[in-house]
Amino acid sequence: MVEFKVKVGKIGLEEGVCIIPFYEHDPPRPAIELPESIDKLVSKVAGRGFKGKLEEVYIFPTFLDKGPEKIALVGLGERNGLELDSFRRAYGRAAIRLDESIIESANSALVKDVFNIEDIAQSIVEGVSLSMYRFDRYKSENRKENLKTVTLLVEDNTLLDRVEKSVETAEKICRGVYTARDLTNMPSIDCYPEKFAEMVYDVGRRAGFNVTVFKIDELKEMGMGGIVAVGDGSIHKPVLVMLEYDGTGGRDDRPYVIVGKAVTFDSGGISIKPSEKMEEMKYDKAGGAAVVGILESIALLRLPIRVVGLIPCVENLPSGTAFRPGDIIRFRNGRTAEIISTDAEGRLILADALSYAVEHKPKAIIDLATLTGACIIALGTHASGLFTNNQELAEKIKKSAEKTGEKVWQLPLWKQYKEQLKSDVADLKNVGGRPAGAITAAAFLSEFVDNIPWVHLDIAGTAYTQETTEQKSYIPKGATGVGVRLIIDYLIEEAHQRH
Ligand code: BES
Ligand code: MN
Ligand code: ZN
Repeated sequence: MVEFKVKVGKIGLEEGVCIIPFYEHDPPRPAIELPESIDKLVSKVAGRGFKGKLEEVYIFPTFLDKGPEKIALVGLGERNGLELDSFRRAYGRAAIRLDESIIESANSALVKDVFNIEDIAQSIVEGVSLSMYRFDRYKSENRKENLKTVTLLVEDNTLLDRVEKSVETAEKICRGVYTARDLTNMPSIDCYPEKFAEMVYDVGRRAGFNVTVFKIDELKEMGMGGIVAVGDGSIHKPVLVMLEYDGTGGRDDRPYVIVGKAVTFDSGGISIKPSEKMEEMKYDKAGGAAVVGILESIALLRLPIRVVGLIPCVENLPSGTAFRPGDIIRFRNGRTAEIISTDAEGRLILADALSYAVEHKPKAIIDLATLTGACIIALGTHASGLFTNNQELAEKIKKSAEKTGEKVWQLPLWKQYKEQLKSDVADLKNVGGRPAGAITAAAFLSEFVDNIPWVHLDIAGTAYTQETTEQKSYIPKGATGVGVRLIIDYLIEEAHQRH
């Protein structure tokens, strides 16, 4: 990971490579104040080919005796379209280009416009760190990382403190995103339920949260018929992983419970999927992986709240021991479901985990799941589907979505949709037909959260890059780690409200 430094200093007077952000304009306008020594030089270069478009980067040598040896101009796009995401994208692209140019260190000053300086600093760190992520542990020749340090220059000591804090926060958040991406990207041959649980255990020991792993015998005793049924087809037996973080110093606070679907491979089971793109179903553990990343960051940040993570983890395979269409299973909360398709497995394992979440008497339950292809049909790959039984909670998550750039879009959960889930032989059936497939899946889940404020995020379209995914510098191919920054932002806000 790139190391960040914060120091009092002036842009253009420091040695090394200096990154200068620009607004798109004719001619492009520097977004920070420049000292005379480089202002002339920069304005000569800018405008000749460089327009300041979002993620545009132009690197050139200065041939100066003092000050920067190279300058990297980076485009933020038009000022009136400026978002925090513009900083992630611009600095992320700059980092990629500097790294490719075998430049080891760079510095930049912070834009003092539109947003507060802490949020801008955080976004820059996120953009740079997350753009440098690669999943290359299976490659024989590892890519060399050239870019090692980025220094953020501030005017005085009070700013130094504030910016240092937000840099540290951002670094801890990025650690969580890295973990979520790593777990999601892991091939299913090396990441099956017991292995997944082991990796969570390692993360917990390092970051400082407790991990309990419920194995199949316990799951049977606990009445977790959904997890057991779905997991039965594989020789790799299912687990329920519980992550517990308490930053309240033992005060008896009700926890936030974050639930994540972790199907280490989803073949569809007996209702087997077509083979086209089936390899993408290793990403079906993205929700669970996000929960691990969230708990890791929360623990590293020592937030003064209680958080419980619940990850039902299974491999969905067809075999002689697999569950089948027509089976009826009973969940932890006593409800039953008739299986129409073994490929609608996510809601079955989540039903048990959500029932168990309710037993923790939580303040709120949030679940993340690559739940339905129908959600991709509805929203494409630019937003996660959001479903709720509590509008106040939903608005908080939407606010965090704005800030983090992890878009969500709410779909309705009207009671009429539940009609599609009626079964002749059980309380529910696990498929509601083609119409509104993402909503009926959410309606199924809603049967297991009682009256606890709950938000369900369907991340099928956003958990990993697909053909239509918008190209962003800080989102390399494969797992995106979506949900981690979003939910951490929500929990940080919640922690603030309490002090
Ligand atoms: N994991 C899939 C959903 C999915 C599809 C995620 C594509 C990412 C990309 C889920 O388990 C599934 O198979 N859902 C079915 C439900 C159907 C059988 C009601 C689907 O969406 O087709
Ligand atoms: Mn499935
Ligand atoms: Zn699935």
